[in-house]
Amino acid sequence: MAKIEDVLALEILDSRGNPTVEVTLKLDNGVFATAKVPSGASTGEREALELRDGDKKRYQGKGVLKVINNIKDIIKPAIKGMEPFDQRAIDKKLIELDGTGTKSKLGANAILAVSLAAAHASAKALNMPLYKYIGGIDTPVVPVPLLNVLNGGKHADTNVDFQEYMIVPAGLPSLKEALRASAEVYHTLKSILKEKSLATSVGDEGGFAPDLKNNEEPLQLLFKAIEKAGYKPGKDIYLAIDPASSEFYSNGKYNLKDEGRKLSSEQMISLYESLVKAYPLISIEDGLAENDWNGWVLLKERLGSKVQLVADDLTVTNTKYIQKALEMDAANSVLIKLNQIGTLTETMESIRMVRSNGWTAVISHRSGETDDTTIADLAVAANTGFIKTGAPARGERVAKYNRLLEIEYELGKRAVYPGMQAFVSIQ
Ligand code: PGA
Ligand code: ZN
Repeated sequence: MAKIEDVLALEILDSRGNPTVEVTLKLDNGVFATAKVPSGASTGEREALELRDGDKKRYQGKGVLKVINNIKDIIKPAIKGMEPFDQRAIDKKLIELDGTGTKSKLGANAILAVSLAAAHASAKALNMPLYKYIGGIDTPVVPVPLLNVLNGGKHADTNVDFQEYMIVPAGLPSLKEALRASAEVYHTLKSILKEKSLATSVGDEGGFAPDLKNNEEPLQLLFKAIEKAGYKPGKDIYLAIDPASSEFYSNGKYNLKDEGRKLSSEQMISLYESLVKAYPLISIEDGLAENDWNGWVLLKERLGSKVQLVADDLTVTNTKYIQKALEMDAANSVLIKLNQIGTLTETMESIRMVRSNGWTAVISHRSGETDDTTIADLAVAANTGFIKTGAPARGERVAKYNRLLEIEYELGKRAVYPGMQAFVSIQ
């Protein structure tokens, strides 16, 4: 059996021009593989810690040299000689070496890079694609993408409060057709914005980022773009939003610029109800804030039978908070971000907990990304049926879509695109 021989760590750049971590794991049989970690902007307060140097003279304090040193000095000697295939043992070792509940000693960015590089190296050593190595032979489901085509909130410098407006091509027959339709809608949206003399520059996740009248106008624009591109809203293509509402929540109120007033949780839910009535809105992520647990329970009561209610900041890919959400019946879906928790093993445990309770799991990128495509393979391996990885534009976003196209091609006739069936939690 191959053994880990060397661990190389490098400070590289993410899609926002901030430093992040790359790890290359070398095995004693000559195989080597690399993983790169992403970075969020609208991070949940309970996420595992992304360690940064804080040295204002380098990268405005965002350098990751401490992380690189932790990998070289602490992690490498501890995992050298281990079998890369024993993911559980490697991840357990990483968690023990760190010893904190939030991975704050070594940094979740250090730990995740090594954890993922081990999986990649193992898959390579066995000459298997990553999704098969992680998921086994029965992995035919390619996910329905949620494509963020209009950016606001913390991902754009505009007056739109909600962070993400997404199109969901769940009515198309395959991922290939779903992506084609989505790219066509994306380009049509661009021409509509141009006609209205609105900005067509893009935000962090590749979606357009125009200044608009209010938080509803993006939904009108998306509806129009879908129709104009020749598709049926609510049949071929649905809509989804991620208001990332923790970002505009303070003192128990939601502070919406466009409303010019502060809304209670109940008023926010009523606002969502009116949007769900007016548009084919099928998924709402972080509709309420990360500490508004009672609000989430009410949101689930009022909209849970019609809409996928995705917890992101609320549960931060951590079984402790997912368990709480399940017990309170506070959502029906959970966003899965590897770097919120820090190891592949813990991520898989979170997915299992979510799915075994009949909720859906949406595998997600971060707003700061690299060309790493691990999440595409993970979405197929874990059979989640959903992936959220930005617009069909910007290299770091399309890298994931292109990887999914390769997987769908490789699966051939066996590939299953679940379409609306992926929405099991609201059927
Ligand atoms: P983030 O945004 O990566 O900036 O946290 C993505 C999200 O909120 O889903
Ligand atoms: Zn989110």
